[in-house]
Amino acid sequence: MKKIIYAVLILVLLFGLIQLVPFGRNHTNPAVVSEPSWDSSGTRDLAKIACFDCHSNQTIWPWYSNVAPISWLVYQDVVEGRRRMNFSDWSSRPQSTGEISEKINEGEMPPLQYTIIHKNAILDATQKQALIQGLINAIK
Ligand code: HEC
Repeated sequence: MKKIIYAVLILVLLFGLIQLVPFGRNHTNPAVVSEPSWDSSGTRDLAKIACFDCHSNQTIWPWYSNVAPISWLVYQDVVEGRRRMNFSDWSSRPQSTGEISEKINEGEMPPLQYTIIHKNAILDATQKQALIQGLINAIK
């Protein structure tokens, strides 16, 4: 019994300690520089629901993004997502559309760890095609 209590105490202590790690705490949303010239507001709506949290400067940071170790994962996704493709800084848009349609079609984007929590980001076949076509129009 004592051993279990000690184990729990150590876990609680560890959990408390990792909250002090500064990594992943910066939740600033940089200013929006330039969005794509959306072909329709519908395309933007789809991207907003399914992609903006990681691929824009308009990230909605949920409460658990303040709780380590989840905060580290969320932060990593946003930093990496923005670096690859940022709907709020479209001057650095992807050169080819192939990857976008591939990632959406194969269900790689939005990623599973995201759609488990954000059910409304799961796009059906029609929405996927609309988003792909809309983004292709925006890159041209
Ligand atoms: C949970 C965060 C998250 C969401 C939501 C998300 N992405 Fe991503 N995306 C990433 C990360 C991280 C990478 C880089 C790693 C990788 O390629 O898997 C990435 C990479 C990409 C790339 C590759 C870009 C390149 O040039 O390397 C494309 C294209 C992409 N995402 C499109 C989308 C689209 C379209 C949506 C919405 C339907 C979306 N993503 C939603 C996190 C996200």
